[in-house]
Amino acid sequence: MEERRLGPVVGLGTWNTFDRDVSLAGEVVGAAFSAGTRLVDSSPMYGGAEASLSDALDERRREAVVATKIWSRGVEDGRAHFARQLEWFGRVDVEQVHNLVSWREHLPWLEAEQAAGRIGRIGVTHYSPAAFAELEQSLRTGRFETLQVPLNPHERECEERLLPLAEELGVAVIVMRPLSEGSLLRRPPSPEELAPLEPFGVRTWAQALLKWALSDPRVDVVIPATRNPEHARTNAAAGEPPWLDPEARRLVERLARR
Ligand SMILES: NC(=O)c1ccc[n+]([C@@H]2O[C@H](COP(=O)([O-])OP(=O)(O)OC[C@H]3O[C@@H](n4cnc5c(N)ncnc54)[C@H](OP(=O)(O)O)[C@@H]3O)[C@@H](O)[C@H]2O)c1
Repeated sequence: MEERRLGPVVGLGTWNTFDRDVSLAGEVVGAAFSAGTRLVDSSPMYGGAEASLSDALDERRREAVVATKIWSRGVEDGRAHFARQLEWFGRVDVEQVHNLVSWREHLPWLEAEQAAGRIGRIGVTHYSPAAFAELEQSLRTGRFETLQVPLNPHERECEERLLPLAEELGVAVIVMRPLSEGSLLRRPPSPEELAPLEPFGVRTWAQALLKWALSDPRVDVVIPATRNPEHARTNAAAGEPPWLDPEARRLVERLARR
C-alpha cells in the first residue's frame, strides 16, 4: 500500500463498530492489518473501542500507528484519560483534541507529554463546517501537526480553506467519514457505470470513494470504519496507486449525486 506522512494511506476508524466486542475487533483489525493497514483511529467518545482496540492490536502494536483523542472539558479529566491510553497503547502516536474541546487548555500538557516521548504528533479534529473557522485558528498557532476532517463527494467544505492551510503549514490530513457514514453506499452504481474506473484499480463503489479522497495529494490517510473483515480487506486495496485523474474524479462525483 502507498505510504504518506502517517504511514499506509488506508487506516481504520472505530466509531460505532466494535465498541466492547473484543472478538469482532480482533477479526476486523486482523483483516485490516493483513491487508496493509497500520493507522487505527479511536476516541474516548467511541464507548469501549479504545479498550477493545488495544486488545485486538496485541503484538501488532509495534507496527501500528495509534491515533486517538482527548475529549474532556477539564485538563485533569483529560490527563486521567491519557493515563488509561498509555496503559492500553504504551504511547499514543497521534493524539488529537476531539472536536476542539478545550484545545487551548489541553495543548500545554500534550506538548509536555510529547517532549517526554509519550505522544508522537498532536492533532485536532472536528466534523462540522460550523467549526472550521476555529479549526483554522487552532492550526494557525503552529502547534498542531495533524488535522482530521470529513471529506467525501457530499462533504467538501474542507477543500475551501482547511486543506490549502494544512498544505501551507505542513499539517498531515486524516479523512474521517470517507464513505459518508455509509450513506453514499446505499445505492451503488452498476458495474457498467464503474467500468471506466477499472484502469485505476477500482473494483467496488467503496474503493472508488476511498480513491477519490486519496487522489487529493493533500490527504495523508482515510479511516473508513467497518464491522466486516471483508470490507476491511477491500478498503485496504484502495490504497494502491494509480490515483484517479481529474476526469475519473468527476465521474465519481457524478455517480455520488444520483
Ligand atoms: N462520524 C463522525 O462524526 C466522526 C467524527 C470524528 C471521527 N470520526 C472517525 O472517522 C471514522 C470514519 O467515519 P465513520 O465511521 O463515521 O463513517 P465511514 O467510515 O464513512 O462509513 C462507515 C460505514 O461504511 C460501511 N462500510 C465500510 N466499508 C465498506 C465497504 N467496503 N462496503 C460497504 N460498506 C462499507 C460500514 O458498514 P459495515 O460495517 O457494514 O462495513 C459503516 O456503516 C470513524 O470511525 C471515526 O474513527 C468520525
